[in-house]
Amino acid sequence: MLGFALNEEQKGVAEMVKDFGEREIYPTIKEYDRLHEMNPQALPRMAELGILGVNIPVRYGGQGFDYVTLGLVCEELERIDTTLRVVMSVHMGLNSMGLLQWGDEQQKMKFLKPQAKGEKYGAFALTEPGAGSDVAAIESTARRDGGDYIISGEKMWISLATTAHHFLWFARTDLNAEAPHKALSAFMVQDDMSGVTSGDIHGKLGVRAGSTGWVNCDNVRVPVRNRIGEEGEGFKIAMSCLDSGRFTVASGATGLIRASLEASINYANERQTFGKPIAQHQLIQQKIAWMQQWYDVSKLLYLKSGWMKNEGVRNTRETSMAKWYATDMSFKAAHEALQIHGAYGYSDEYDVERYLRNSRGAIIYEGTSEIHQLMQASYALGFRQDKHLRCELPAYDPELWGELE
Ligand code: CAA
Repeated sequence: MLGFALNEEQKGVAEMVKDFGEREIYPTIKEYDRLHEMNPQALPRMAELGILGVNIPVRYGGQGFDYVTLGLVCEELERIDTTLRVVMSVHMGLNSMGLLQWGDEQQKMKFLKPQAKGEKYGAFALTEPGAGSDVAAIESTARRDGGDYIISGEKMWISLATTAHHFLWFARTDLNAEAPHKALSAFMVQDDMSGVTSGDIHGKLGVRAGSTGWVNCDNVRVPVRNRIGEEGEGFKIAMSCLDSGRFTVASGATGLIRASLEASINYANERQTFGKPIAQHQLIQQKIAWMQQWYDVSKLLYLKSGWMKNEGVRNTRETSMAKWYATDMSFKAAHEALQIHGAYGYSDEYDVERYLRNSRGAIIYEGTSEIHQLMQASYALGFRQDKHLRCELPAYDPELWGELE
């Protein structure tokens, strides 16, 4: 992206994903949402189309596009179905991009490559029953035993818990660390390792066609070569993965605002009250104007964050702002869209009630709005400054990204 213009590649990928979503996902989304099941074709088709490795370098099995393209893909996916964007948030943002940033060459070949090709699915195992916002409070442990670690603990609210093959798992390796965040380390736990079990959580408000669950490790033996980064780097790895995951949540939420806006425009032009289409009533127009504003600002915020990633510039602050704003506004947009649809919006005959339910979770996961407000205040007040990392997310380089093995 140069200036504000998208290049032909970026537009082409976005168009391809839009077409996939409209033709292959949209016709069945209500059915799977009612069934509380994932469309079994969704992940294999995303793999086939290269979506699961869209911004990973070709030598690691990906398609070699830039980070802005990832944002556009997430926008198009969530415009159709939030569950597909959630897949990108955990598989790509939180796991694959974490490997790209922190993994060594061998780990990239072993874990990232099959993930980028869509042969294996990745997930992010950070949150625990007693530790969500307070990451440093996780209780999962990893004890060194010769050439292995023995991992025990339970993770909760994990997207793709019962579907993923590779979990980026965070555990406490130092029980006497001087600061709580220095106690954590990151590991790649594989679903077929002895002692790994998982299950789905039922009764969710939204993202019903997606998989969210728990994962348990009971004395799981994990080789040292599966440790990502150094011992004690787990907190920083988790936070930098969240810098990528939050980008996908922000761009996805922007797509959900667009979906609410488009549904509202269509309905407002069709529905008549007081002898004219409701689009002619000023209070409806006000809601449409708000939604347009929320969409435009959310888009600018995520494009800025994507551009900074492309340039290799640290973007924790900007990505947090994009995530906070877009998710809060996608909930408001879905609420206004439902209001425009009146009683029809309250039934699942129309899409907007699903948009409202699906928008709510993103205000909690990957940093609650309250966490983002604290972060933004800390940056503005000068209490918080980003430090250089041992491994930064690599800047996008078209030549390097396109290089064959
Ligand atoms: N990248 C790398 N390192 C970072 C970082 C980042 N973005 N942010 C902070 N760090 C480093 C700091 O530089 C500091 O390093 P030093 O030890 O060298 O000084 C260290 O981490 C600790 O920093 P702080 O004590 O300042 O901690 P913090 O303020 O950054 O973090 C917090 C506190 C903001 C509450 C943070 O824990 C947080 O963001 N919590 C929310 C967690 C979250 O988003 N969870 C979502 C789970 S995943 C999910 O929801 C997905 C799903 O499956 C549904």
